[in-house]
Amino acid sequence: MELNRRTLIAGAAAAGLTAAAAGGTAHASGGRKPVKELFGTLADGTKVYRWSLQNGGTRMKVLSYGGIVQSLEVPDRRGRYANVSLGFDNLDDYVASSPYFGALIGRYGNRIGKGRFTLDGTAYQLSVNDGENSLHGGAQGFDKRVWDVEPFTEGPDVGLRLYYTSADGEMGYPGTLKVKVTYTLTRNGDWRIDYRATTDKPTVVNLTSHVYWNLAGESSGTIYDHELSIEASRFTPVDKGLIPTGEPARVAGTPFDFRRAKPIGRDIRTAHQQLLYGKGFDHNWVLDKGITHRPELAATLRDPSSGRTLRISTNEPGLQFYSGNFLDGTLVGTGGNVYRQGDGLCLETQHFPDSPNQPSFPSTVLRPGETYRTTTVHSFGS
Ligand code: BGC
Repeated sequence: MELNRRTLIAGAAAAGLTAAAAGGTAHASGGRKPVKELFGTLADGTKVYRWSLQNGGTRMKVLSYGGIVQSLEVPDRRGRYANVSLGFDNLDDYVASSPYFGALIGRYGNRIGKGRFTLDGTAYQLSVNDGENSLHGGAQGFDKRVWDVEPFTEGPDVGLRLYYTSADGEMGYPGTLKVKVTYTLTRNGDWRIDYRATTDKPTVVNLTSHVYWNLAGESSGTIYDHELSIEASRFTPVDKGLIPTGEPARVAGTPFDFRRAKPIGRDIRTAHQQLLYGKGFDHNWVLDKGITHRPELAATLRDPSSGRTLRISTNEPGLQFYSGNFLDGTLVGTGGNVYRQGDGLCLETQHFPDSPNQPSFPSTVLRPGETYRTTTVHSFGS
């Protein structure tokens, strides 16, 4: 049964439960102010804080390091909460060995081939950190930066504004990039991300969020039974280095067809060249809606066991679906258990990988005087 969040809270109230028992979040006039605590200290002495916020039945914890969502809790169909995002319980593990758990990604989500591109006749060499390519902004991307965090409550909304200024030339990218990312928890328990950036020189930008979802709860096993639908008739095939070949392909008749919801595990072991390259799904889907003024539905994820659902809407043209293929049993997660292949999946709203080298892809160029603006909304249900 589809039960939306308001029904759940109303139901909890009707059952005589207090707001605290229902998650402590049912505030008609808005949520509580986010709470800050020390999470750890970096080697250079910089303090890292953790912010806790909740609204409309969703609870989240966010670090000033990388803008990382360290935990995100939502109820199942019986109102039982679980943390549905993979992560660590300590700062050292995030610094030493995180595969981008929960992090903000910049300046460029996904790969740029050979870490090179040319803009207005000038060639740029980026930090190369994934074979010969640049991945997720290079060796010290936005996921490894300490952000200035400002909490807010505004009407029924609760949230955090995260600020980071990336210096001209950082990781090889041109232009001083001023970035503001707003995490909002709405009265319905939606998590909205608004990305803004400006530059003082022509540059390229592609920001995203790298939460690993497991709607049954982190450490509960693989996501192969989760049912996924993606609003896309095409995807961008890649070469063995996971760089798009440049020619979108139709999903029809392939394991990449998620136009109707299907379990992720159903076709993941098909001997399809693209699945061999990615060791599973690790591809960009070309959303049928294209770039939109407002966020529109991109994907729906459902865990049949708990009933939890996640709907992702965005104004971005692409969605990277990564089925956690490179998790290999070497990392110990928040709950003290080891993460293995497929224990979480990422749904990263974005422009397409390698766009700076692919003239037929939508442009990722940002120029002085323009403002980069994208929005992604995560809506939870059960
Ligand atoms: C990429 C994967 C990469 C992973 C890093 C994903 O966004 O598509 O190829 O391994 O991030 O954890």
